[in-house]
Amino acid sequence: MKRIAVFTSGGDAPGMNAAIRAVVRGGLHHGVEIFGIIRGYNGMIKGDIIPLNSQSVSNIIQRGGTILKSARSKEFMTPEGRKKGYDQLKSHGIEGLVAIGGNGTFTGAEIFFNEFQIPTVGAPGTIDNDLFGTDYTIGYDTAVNTALDAIDKIRDTADSHDRIFFIEVMGRDSGYIAVQSGISGGAESILIPEERQTIEDVVGTLKAGFEKKKSSSIVVVAEGDEEGHAAIIAERIKSTIDVPVDIRVTNLGHIQRGGRPSAYDRILASRLGLGALEGLLAGHKNEMAGIVNDKLVYTPFHDTITKKKEINSDLLRLSGILSK
Ligand code: F6P
Repeated sequence: MKRIAVFTSGGDAPGMNAAIRAVVRGGLHHGVEIFGIIRGYNGMIKGDIIPLNSQSVSNIIQRGGTILKSARSKEFMTPEGRKKGYDQLKSHGIEGLVAIGGNGTFTGAEIFFNEFQIPTVGAPGTIDNDLFGTDYTIGYDTAVNTALDAIDKIRDTADSHDRIFFIEVMGRDSGYIAVQSGISGGAESILIPEERQTIEDVVGTLKAGFEKKKSSSIVVVAEGDEEGHAAIIAERIKSTIDVPVDIRVTNLGHIQRGGRPSAYDRILASRLGLGALEGLLAGHKNEMAGIVNDKLVYTPFHDTITKKKEINSDLLRLSGILSK
């Protein structure tokens, strides 16, 4: 394999640049030409494919976002779009792909591989940490620390005004960011899609705190929680709780996707970027590189997108005990 293309797709995540750098520098080391596809699958369809060299990736390890840009491509979901993408890869002489992204990226990669057999290895890049086959995804650690920084700041003002804050964090259908930022921020309650907690449960927790003269409380809500978004939950609690409380809501939103990657994410991304490239060169295909128990492993795309990575129940138990 002499010509490989790398692209980033789906929601961007801090550390994606470090992964791109690892693919490019790894390619140079192994004597392989590396190309970058701009804007994920959309760029593949349009033939927006450029050569990358060592200089193209200098001074990017510390930068958030992705120098290759990202997109969620509707056209690639159609057979016609994927055929256009294949034709573009062929005309550029691309023999293999490194896909950096999450669930949607690997769903597309699996379909594409089944149709056209272009060997593809993925590197998990998403703040959601919701991919089976790796303990952590690129960007998750930074996102958790960004959320934690915000939670700490909100706690200051919550405490000054004796308020209850509902803080919504990202994570689509998964509660990873909520659990880690909630536990480390000392949240009184954490609501995640993986664990059923009713409005009554939250009211019970908040009232217990009130009775113990807690003057402020933080409830971290994962955006995908079954009870609804933080604003809806806060409204319902306001109308249910029978003690005098002042409630505010903050949605942390896309700040969680940006910023300088943490040291952990830079190293993880470097390992996974190089791991994806070297996996491809060693004959892996239709698989994602991941780190499990500090070891590089490869998991079929199919498993990464269909199997559920469970949240450690010890963490949920610990949170229940320590937040009282
Ligand atoms: O997958 C990453 C993520 O940030 C999710 O946590 C969130 O649900 C989604 O992307 C938001 O996507 P968009 O930027 O397209 O609104």
